[in-house]
This record gives sequence, structure tokens and C-alpha cells, in this order.
Amino acid sequence: MSSHVSNAFASEVRAFFRSAGRSWTAPPEISFLLRALLIGVSLAYEMAERGIQTSERSRAQQFSSFETAPLRGGVCQEIFETEPPLSAPKTSISNSMSSHTPPSNTPFGGAHASSYTEGLHRQVPGFDGLHRMMSLLLAERTPPNGRVLVLGAGGGLELRTLAGDHPGWTFDGVDPSADMLRLAERTAGPHMPRIRLHEGYIEAAPEGPFDAATCLLTLHFIPRDRRLHTLAQVRRRLKAGAPFIVAHISFPQTEPERSLWIARHVAYGGTDPANVESARQAIATKLTILEPEEEEAMLRDAGFSDVKLFYAGLSFKGWVAYAG
Ligand SMILES: C[S@@+](CC[C@H](N)C(=O)[O-])C[C@H]1O[C@@H](n2cnc3c(N)ncnc32)[C@H](O)[C@@H]1O
Repeated sequence: MSSHVSNAFASEVRAFFRSAGRSWTAPPEISFLLRALLIGVSLAYEMAERGIQTSERSRAQQFSSFETAPLRGGVCQEIFETEPPLSAPKTSISNSMSSHTPPSNTPFGGAHASSYTEGLHRQVPGFDGLHRMMSLLLAERTPPNGRVLVLGAGGGLELRTLAGDHPGWTFDGVDPSADMLRLAERTAGPHMPRIRLHEGYIEAAPEGPFDAATCLLTLHFIPRDRRLHTLAQVRRRLKAGAPFIVAHISFPQTEPERSLWIARHVAYGGTDPANVESARQAIATKLTILEPEEEEAMLRDAGFSDVKLFYAGLSFKGWVAYAG
């Protein structure tokens, strides 16, 4: 719009100087000066026009980067180190991603559903190896047309890994964060025809029965008083003998080991020295971190058997268990 107006005005100015040049025969030095003036004015308008176009373009760019900012803003460091854990589960459950408001107490709204992928790679030792182990352990017991439940599916990384490795499997992914589910949709991309996403906690998952389940980097966000219930709800949806993979933060909870492990976790994540203390505080107070022995006992209490540690990456541990 502005550039259209400036074009019209520039043409009028050019026409005026052209007609002035025709109707009056000026001495050569005046004519030279007039031509110079005409060229100068035309150039000035062209530059002004370009300036307007550039500023419009940069406004548009600013707007689009503002719109996509939530995908770049946060990192997993913030997720793991500074955000509160989830409390009570959502009461109303939805199976539609777009028509429901995310629960207000999820720490993964807005900017946090963002460039978390790079944060996960930085924070979780051997992240890619963990995915490969998950994939092969599930495949040992899951049929080629297996149906898999993914709890804490936001972000979509394990959905993408598993769907890519096992073209016959179908997936139900559950997560309380609408932002993280949107990110999962984008991450899983071409695999989405085999994936259904459900916004909510474990109760939002279909009844199954499923051939396998995963819960990666999520259980430490679930308060202690919901952990057993959540695991039991996963177990209830699995066929007998179905494998279940979990991996999350777990280390000794007695001092001085606990503080040492918290310090190691924060150090491995490459936390800015200025934020180390607040990061340690957040880990100590906002996540639900259990001793490895308690994790295993809880899996058994929830109805899983043959619980085996398959992954230990500093502060993170992973177990495979089977629906008993
Ligand atoms: C660090 S992200 C991990 C996502 C994904 N599993 C991965 O490994 O990339 C943790 C996810 O757990 C979800 N979450 C938090 N509390 C949950 C709960 N009670 N039940 C299911 N998912 C939960 C969050 O919304 C978030 O998407």
C-alpha cells in the first residue's frame, strides 16, 4: 500500500519535471541543473520506495518469527531445571488435539514446547543410543503389526524413531501439553497416518490392549502420589507379557549422594555458571526423583515383572519391564 502511493507520487513528480523541461527552453547550464535535479528527485523517490519495501519485509519477517518463536524459545534445560512438576491429573479428557485448552499446570506450554530437541541431546547422555535401545527392546516382543502406547509423547521424538524403525506398528501418544503435541505432529510428519494423539494424562489413553508401551523422560514430572497410579494405568492397557520401556532421572536420595548427583546432572547439562545454583534448587525441589530401587519396586507394584535396568546415563536411568 505505502509503496503503491510512493510510486504514483514519484510518477507525478517525474511528469511535472518532464513537462516543465518541454515548455521552457532554458539556457544549457539551467537545463543541466534541471536534469540533475530531476535525476536526483527520481533517485530519492526510488530509494524511499526501496526503504518502505524493506521495512515492510522486515516487519513481515519479524511477525513470522514472532509467530514461530515458541518453537525456538525454550530448551529442555528450562524444562528440566526450572519448571514445576505437574500436579493433579486433568479432570476432563480429550481425544482431539485442537479443540481443547491445555491444562494450566503443565510446564510445557508456549515457549517450552520449543527447541527442546537440542536440549534433550545436550542433557541426556547417549540420547540417540537410548532411542535405539528402546526400539530394539520393544521389537523383541512386539509383533510386526503391533499397537504401541506412548505416554508423554509430546515432542514426538520416540514416535518418529519407532514409526521409522517399524513400519507396521501403530501408535497412541498421550500428553497433557497441547503445545508439545503440536510439536509431536510436526516431528512425526509423514508417520502421522499411523499415530493418534490424545491430550491429557494416562486416563486419556485408549483402553488398548496394547502390545507395548514407552514413557521416556517423563515420569520425573509426575508427582510421587500419582506415579504408582500412572504405572498401573499403563499396565492395565497392556497385553500380558507386553514390554514397557521407561527412562528418566533417578539417583540416590540420601545425602550426601543426592546433592552430588544433582550437581552432576546440572554440570552435564552445560548450565550457565550464573544459573547453576537456581538449577540445582529447581532439580532438588521441583522434580519427583526416586532412588533406582524404589523405581523398580514401583514398577513391580504396578503389575510389571522381570524389571531390568538397560540404560544408565549419569543422572538418567532406563528400565524394561513386562506386563506380568
Ligand atoms: C521432557 S518431555 C519428553 C517428551 C518425549 N517423551 C521425549 O522423550 O522426547 C516430557 C513430556 O512429558 C509430558 N508430561 C508431563 N507430565 C505428564 C503426565 N502426567 N502424563 C503424561 N505426560 C506428561 C510433558 O507435557 C512433556 O511433553
